[in-house]
Amino acid sequence: MKHKPVRKAVFPVAGLGTRFLPATKVMAKEMLTICDKPLIQHVVEEARAAGIEEFILVTSPSKEMLQKQFEAHPELEQVLASKNKNDLLKKVRDTNILPGKLKVAYQDKPLGLGHAIWCAKDLVGDEPFAVLLPDVLVKGPSCLKQMVDIYEDIGGNVIAVEDVPRDQTDKYGIVDIGGTDGIVLPVQALVEKPKPEHAPSTLSIIGRYILQPEIFDALSVFEKGAGGEIQLTDAMAKLIGKQPFHSVRFEGKSYDCGSKLGFIEANIAFGLADAEIGDQLQKIVNQFSSGALSDALPSKGNNARHAAKS
Ligand code: G1P
Repeated sequence: MKHKPVRKAVFPVAGLGTRFLPATKVMAKEMLTICDKPLIQHVVEEARAAGIEEFILVTSPSKEMLQKQFEAHPELEQVLASKNKNDLLKKVRDTNILPGKLKVAYQDKPLGLGHAIWCAKDLVGDEPFAVLLPDVLVKGPSCLKQMVDIYEDIGGNVIAVEDVPRDQTDKYGIVDIGGTDGIVLPVQALVEKPKPEHAPSTLSIIGRYILQPEIFDALSVFEKGAGGEIQLTDAMAKLIGKQPFHSVRFEGKSYDCGSKLGFIEANIAFGLADAEIGDQLQKIVNQFSSGALSDALPSKGNNARHAAKS
């Protein structure tokens, strides 16, 4: 192998999830479900499909349920086994991460994404690692796997990017690829949340990264950037020119599950693709778009509740 393998992935999950209050008053935002799985489960599966062996949660003590989601649950497994519910038993067992392969670092203060990643420094050590933001789901083949395949060829740092409308550049990290076109491109500059008129392009960082451990030196300066937070984008910008740094246009589509609208859109997209409910959901979506399903209309006996029960 030409380059050190990417064995570890970091999941920053310490946030309070205030955009989803009151749902997130007690429950971790990352436990909200898209179709039938919590957000965190979706991204852990994406990482597993990319060959990740060690999973590092940067979390807060009040979000212990996130660890529990990946620990064995012997009582539940025993009940399901005794009732021969083998499909459910498999689903439950598939969530388990082997003891010792799930690590936890605590982020004591909400100082920004860069600070969250810095908190994983000792657990990552001196090797390349992946970062996956659980707010963002990618529908399609594992995005991280696509990146790992490219990394194995070119090494260095690799980030996944996707075009956004120009009036939305101030919501994302934006990549300057010097006006060139292609799938894998060298990054010339990175800027966090630029105003549309200052954005060097409309290519946004989606929240999937393969980074070299030198990122921790850049993060250790604790420099505040956009929004007064310690930004991962600013630290990455310091690696450009010193190490290979590439952006990748991946196959698939990202969903911003950190916003109410994106969350509902993702639920529809993943629901439509679900073997069990996809067809029924399509009918419901069609009925909504034709105006046949509306709270104001009397029930026609074919509403969402009936469809779900049938
Ligand atoms: C973070 C990153 C940003 C990236 C975005 C993707 O921003 O700082 O560069 O484009 O995630 O969702 P946040 O959404 O946490 O403000």
